Amino acid sequence: MERLQKVIAASGYTSRRKAEELILSGKVYVNGEKVTTLGTKVSGNDDIVIDGVHLGKEELVYYLLNKPRGVISSAKDEHDRTTVTDLINTSSRIYPIGRLDYDTTGLIILTNDGELTNILSHPSNHVPKKYIAKLNKAIKIEDIHKLKDGVMVDNVKCTPTRVKVKKTDLEKDYSIVEITIVEGRNHIVKNVFKELGYLVDKLSRVEYAFLSTDGLKSGEYRPLTIKEVKKLYDYKIKN
Ligand code: URA
Repeated sequence: MERLQKVIAASGYTSRRKAEELILSGKVYVNGEKVTTLGTKVSGNDDIVIDGVHLGKEELVYYLLNKPRGVISSAKDEHDRTTVTDLINTSSRIYPIGRLDYDTTGLIILTNDGELTNILSHPSNHVPKKYIAKLNKAIKIEDIHKLKDGVMVDNVKCTPTRVKVKKTDLEKDYSIVEITIVEGRNHIVKNVFKELGYLVDKLSRVEYAFLSTDGLKSGEYRPLTIKEVKKLYDYKIKN
């Protein structure tokens, strides 16, 4: 069961705020009865009619975007900056699953499927995400060991499942490190390196679960296949 205004918004009919206005003004009927109470719970079987129009269920859509730098990971931005949804040509009300920082590039999934969003966002489902980070200094061997053992960030340990130093340039004093983590805290990669005394100058997410940005240039996107969506749903049962 879900709240009526949430179901109306998820259908793509209108925003949640407008849905609340419609309910309060007596325009919404559930199974033939007028409902004016916000928060009334409805199920997928209930017949919802707004202004005489039966509410259809919005078709579920899924996209994989290679996010460029300088783009916000949300559906809307209060300062009118470009968001990830602006880059995708669709009339569906999509939003990103999780966030990448404004200056982080790489793989982000966008959808209007709330159930899949919950599955992939839940920490216990351990979805691996692989990042490539360019550090402001050459990384020391002892710090690579510390990284592999796990680093405390805000009193919670983050233990990468894989760490690989791709390159260290001692002359120019920088390293490029590949790091895979299964959690989704905001700024987690930058914060892990910060704890060890490094700044991340460049960050890109190159893999999310079994998906990669291969074949997609910066700013390009593609729909996920049904097979890929099913495989993402498997994260619910696997872990
Ligand atoms: N970790 C970060 O620090 N930034 C991101 O954008 C993603 C993960």
